Amino acid sequence: MSKITRRDFIKIVSQVLSATGVGVIVAPIVAYFYPSTLEETPPEPVRVGKVDELPENEGGVVQYGRYPAIVVNTSQGLRAYSAVCTHLACIVKWNKKIGQFACPCHAGFYDPIDGHVISGPPPRPLASIPVNIVDGEIYIGEKV
Ligand code: FES
Repeated sequence: MSKITRRDFIKIVSQVLSATGVGVIVAPIVAYFYPSTLEETPPEPVRVGKVDELPENEGGVVQYGRYPAIVVNTSQGLRAYSAVCTHLACIVKWNKKIGQFACPCHAGFYDPIDGHVISGPPPRPLASIPVNIVDGEIYIGEKV
């Protein structure tokens, strides 16, 4: 068995560190040109409840796939959105006193009719989710 000299050891360590340094620089460049193709399939439709259990100006949060969704019965009909705030991902709540979705984290407010931002820091509207009524039952998600 041959002995590794101090000089050889330092050479090996410097080569390993050089290879690691190159990897740290190259990996983000490769990731930029070949982004992850992980796509989430739309969740299965979720039953929310009976139509007559959700009177006008009432709303609630239900689980929809991995994330919560918020459903509200507006003056223009049922609407459903992802309940994940587009600012920093807090969960928005239905505030029936003011008739808006409110994010408790940084006072973001959204319109219930189309989900657009009324005020606050959220950069985008809430993501809309299709609503279907089948035999008097409310479902959110693609057609049942
Ligand atoms: S996370 Fe909703 S306003 Fe900031």
